[in-house]
Amino acid sequence: MAEQYILIQSAPLKAFAKSMLMGAGVAVDRAELVAQSLLEANLRGVDSHGVQLLNFYIEHMAMGCMNLTTNGRIVTESGGTMTYDADNGIGQVISDICCDHTIRLAKANGMALVSVRHSNHFGAAAFWSQKIARAGLIGMSFCNATPLVPPWQGKEPRFGTNPICMAMPGAPETGWLLDMATTTVAMGKIFKANFSGDPTIPAGWAFDSDGVPTTDTQKAVKGMPMPLGGYKGYGLALMVEILVGVLSGGSMSTEVGGVRIRTRPMSCGQAFIGIDVERFMPLDEFNARMDKLVGLAKDTPPAPGYTEVLVAGEPEWRSLRKRRVQGIPLSKGVWQQLGKTASLVKVTPPEVADIEYQG
Ligand SMILES: NC(=O)c1ccc[n+]([C@@H]2O[C@H](COP(=O)([O-])OP(=O)(O)OC[C@H]3O[C@@H](n4cnc5c(N)ncnc54)[C@H](O)[C@@H]3O)[C@@H](O)[C@H]2O)c1
Repeated sequence: MAEQYILIQSAPLKAFAKSMLMGAGVAVDRAELVAQSLLEANLRGVDSHGVQLLNFYIEHMAMGCMNLTTNGRIVTESGGTMTYDADNGIGQVISDICCDHTIRLAKANGMALVSVRHSNHFGAAAFWSQKIARAGLIGMSFCNATPLVPPWQGKEPRFGTNPICMAMPGAPETGWLLDMATTTVAMGKIFKANFSGDPTIPAGWAFDSDGVPTTDTQKAVKGMPMPLGGYKGYGLALMVEILVGVLSGGSMSTEVGGVRIRTRPMSCGQAFIGIDVERFMPLDEFNARMDKLVGLAKDTPPAPGYTEVLVAGEPEWRSLRKRRVQGIPLSKGVWQQLGKTASLVKVTPPEVADIEYQG
């Protein structure tokens, strides 16, 4: 069964998202920030981390699970390091503040790591790495998330899809930008295969509920996503937990809640790193060396079945350029759910057109 889509331009989608957040009691400047972060994910083609998250955010807010007004507080600051207590604040608001601290500390010290506890979902990691990178630094961001993923050789979930992200100084809209979950695919892709009626999924995507690798979509839907590359992804997920959970003094592994768990605060952690490349070499020299490195990758003759070699970031930059002009396709299922959420906060969705779209 082919999924049906609607098309909406950036401005009305952002205005709709912002109105919903304000309807849930979020102050105007905070609503603007959250809406922008979600819109940018949609523009980059990362729809799993776009406006559809409002369905979960708004419910979480309505249940009183999030502190909508706090800025959090600095717990410790020393050299290029900081521990930050988010005080259960809005993930994007806290991340914005902590990226500013990362930039300040990295410029003063050459490098900075800000580790954050008791926070909430911050959307796509790229938004934050790019914010740090726009200040002329290498920007990195991490977070832990709802435990859905078993450790390798285990049969119960212990870790989130804990993303790892790195952006280049200036965050050019052509540059290398890696933003990846530490599972082979997000759970959303498995749900999508089920929704589309695909009986099987590729090997390496999921376990069944007993922790046995499966390609059966039905078993995978009831099962768990697989760590990226088996025990290596498990190792990376744990590395993220160390940076965001152990170091911050916050929640780890099964102590973390989730945007879909409406009865308690998420209490996830985040970490932000800034690296001042000027401490190593002039920025122009760094950029020239990066261009050379990317060129060496892209000059590789394509393997059979491919026409080119890409580098991380390219699929998303291409989507960004296209969607800025053509608008954003959203599945009708997501749009209808957003409409229901909007009615909870007394907001009317904008008019949209149905489109033919191969998602
Ligand atoms: N906030 C959270 O709790 C949370 C948790 C997990 C993931 N996320 C977000 O989910 C989003 C999606 O993550 P994902 O792992 O599904 O992304 P993905 O698998 O689509 O892409 C991962 C990376 O691979 C690169 N890539 C894709 N195709 C490529 C190719 N052919 N050649 C070279 N590089 C290529 C992409 O540019 C990207 O940097 C990210 O924005 C991430 O931050 C957030």
